[in-house]
Amino acid sequence: MTTAVVLGNSSLPGGYGLLRLAAPEVAVSSLPGHFVHVNCGPGFTLPRPFSVFDADPEGGWIEILYKVVGAGSGAMAAWRVGDGVSFLGPIGRPFLTTLARPSRALLIAGGVGLAPLDFLARFLVRCGTEVHFFLGLEGESPLPLTPGAGGALTLGRLGELGIRVHLASRGERAGFFRGNVTDLVARVLAGGELGELAGTGVFVCGPMAMMRAAAALVGGYGLTGECSLEERMGCGFGGCAGCVAPVRIGDGGEWEYRRVCVDGPVFPLDRVDWERGGAFR
Ligand SMILES: Cc1cc2nc3c(=O)[nH]c(=O)nc-3n(C[C@H](O)[C@H](O)[C@H](O)COP(=O)(O)OP(=O)(O)OC[C@H]3O[C@@H](n4cnc5c(N)ncnc54)[C@H](O)[C@@H]3O)c2cc1C
Ligand code: FES
Repeated sequence: MTTAVVLGNSSLPGGYGLLRLAAPEVAVSSLPGHFVHVNCGPGFTLPRPFSVFDADPEGGWIEILYKVVGAGSGAMAAWRVGDGVSFLGPIGRPFLTTLARPSRALLIAGGVGLAPLDFLARFLVRCGTEVHFFLGLEGESPLPLTPGAGGALTLGRLGELGIRVHLASRGERAGFFRGNVTDLVARVLAGGELGELAGTGVFVCGPMAMMRAAAALVGGYGLTGECSLEERMGCGFGGCAGCVAPVRIGDGGEWEYRRVCVDGPVFPLDRVDWERGGAFR
């Protein structure tokens, strides 16, 4: 368990928060796709998992982009600079462990699924990968765009890095494609504007239905990649099997439950058994 001090905790539009924690060793070892299992305070039996949104080894800090959805994330929103926070991490298998770095990447995020993919986008572009970032937001949900302690957040920062950002919303919004984010990806793929698709990898994080649709869509183009699953978690270290998801293990329909916390959260997109029930939402 790491004990860290809160360096910043800003409230952002859309019910998001950005938490910066002083954690030098964790900052050095965190990669895109890793998560931390955060103790939300007295009265919370189980920690809550959050992706590492950013990590600065030189500054000795990590950041978490969180959406307030319940008691644990609500408690986090009340943390102040100087408070002490304990957490496990970084945990899990990050992105790019089941796939070599592609020359072009399509990143498909739904809602707060943007947190690990934003980190991945910045990592990939630094390595020379051409990155297209697709983000779907519910209805009128504002963008988490306000300047944070580190400068312009998320979409503004991605744009500055030359990453092409494509936005989708099911509600009517200026500058957004109207529909599901996967419909927007389908339109771009069908339009042929990406040209030759060889060397393209796909990375997905968001609600299960959206990831299932993304896997089916890109599979139809012969593309694959990785997804980060967001199962509910118990222990966070592989001991309780409270976080399992069905994963295909052979080519003959064999499958087994894998623990999202330590076998994932990142899995090959074409290996997750999207149709099987079990613990899957
Ligand atoms: C590997 C991983 C990475 C994650 N990264 C982030 C992140 O970067 N930012 C972020 O905001 N959230 C992230 N989540 C989701 C986050 O863990 C939950 O939102 C959080 O645990 C909710 O805790 P709570 O006490 O506020 O809400 P609760 O009171 O526990 O639940 C409130 C509502 O949220 C739903 N919920 C709870 N946990 C999850 C979950 N794991 N997935 C989907 N819905 C859930 C519940 O069903 C309920 O409807 C991640 C989850 C996983 C497994
Ligand atoms: S949360 Fe306990 S095994 Fe994954």
